[in-house]
Amino acid sequence: MLTSEQAADKLKKLGKIGRAIFSKSKSEYKKAELKCIEGGEYYQLSKYTDTQVFHENLISGGAEAVIAAMELGFGQCAVFGEKDATLLRNKKGLYTLTGVKEGTFTSFTHDRKKNYIIEPKGGNEELWLVALGITSKEGKVKMYKKLGQINRFAELVRDIEEHVPNGSVVVDMGCGKSYLTFALYYYFNIIKNKNITFRGYDLKKEVVDDCNDLAKRCGYDKLTFFCEDIANVNNDDGKISMLITLHACNTATDIAIYHGIRWGCNVMMNVPCCQKELNQSLKSDFSPVVFEHGIIKERITALMTDAVRARLIELCGYNVEVLEFVDIENTPKNLLIRSVKNGRKSEDKRAECDKLLKELEAFGGKLTLAELLQNI
Ligand SMILES: C[S@@+](CC[C@H](N)C(=O)[O-])C[C@H]1O[C@@H](n2cnc3c(N)ncnc32)[C@H](O)[C@@H]1O
Repeated sequence: MLTSEQAADKLKKLGKIGRAIFSKSKSEYKKAELKCIEGGEYYQLSKYTDTQVFHENLISGGAEAVIAAMELGFGQCAVFGEKDATLLRNKKGLYTLTGVKEGTFTSFTHDRKKNYIIEPKGGNEELWLVALGITSKEGKVKMYKKLGQINRFAELVRDIEEHVPNGSVVVDMGCGKSYLTFALYYYFNIIKNKNITFRGYDLKKEVVDDCNDLAKRCGYDKLTFFCEDIANVNNDDGKISMLITLHACNTATDIAIYHGIRWGCNVMMNVPCCQKELNQSLKSDFSPVVFEHGIIKERITALMTDAVRARLIELCGYNVEVLEFVDIENTPKNLLIRSVKNGRKSEDKRAECDKLLKELEAFGGKLTLAELLQNI
């Protein structure tokens, strides 16, 4: 029998740990899973209750992370890494390590150093990265998912950046804490040395005030935030070339896309979320078998919403791609609709879309974007 320290020592001798699964729980957490991040420098622990999952980043070695998780009240842990093993913990809190064998975990997925566009500098951090909690002052990453998310977005913007000319304006609709707005400002105006004005819009005054304050402290003089319902936003100076939304709730995405189309934006980058409209309005008779289970109806109607949005945008003269923006593990709200203006109205595809919209309508289905675009 081993104490927790002895068990940690034995685990360390097994080499790098990639993943661990915890079971035989005596606590509120029914199971837990540990995964290595950045080649094992950090670990992320996901703890599952009956109804929720909680994620936590552990700044410790794999062996310590495994023991810390066991101490939450688990009796057993299957460890996968350079060596695989099973760790048991008895009622007295003493450990046994058994079943050590050749490791089956080969994909230390985060092993390679990532080539981020927006990279922590390790000591001379951009103020916004620190202020938004993405890194520490010393450049230690504190929010891996967020860093990955803004970098992936920046990559997807890099592909189409020629459509965002110098002197033009980018708007972020429903910008929230504005991780993305700051990231793209930094990308265009600092990394690429361009001259792009950014405007962020959100309903939350406090958040908007904080963002304006941070923009000022960063010296980002072409970045302004407005406390405004996106429905009321205008393109008075006609300079908006790109419109972005990241997880703008439910129909806020539709309103933003509608604006983007009527303003003639060159590019729209939209990551929708909470697509509730069709889920709530479409009667289950539309497809009784498919819609029998609430969770399936929720997911399918969310995907249908985005498929119809993509088609509607295309009909209005855009090349549209639907891309997986980040890993589904990162967030299930991970589809990006990327639209680049081509000026061609796709009349040939209109009939199919109209047919689908009529079918949806016959079963009560309501889609704000379709309604708004009737006015264009
Ligand atoms: C889920 S948050 C996403 C925030 C940010 N884009 C991000 O990804 O971190 C959605 C944001 O949209 C804002 N929002 C929702 N409806 C809005 C509207 N009609 N006008 C302006 N902002 C809106 C909310 O206040 C919230 O901050």
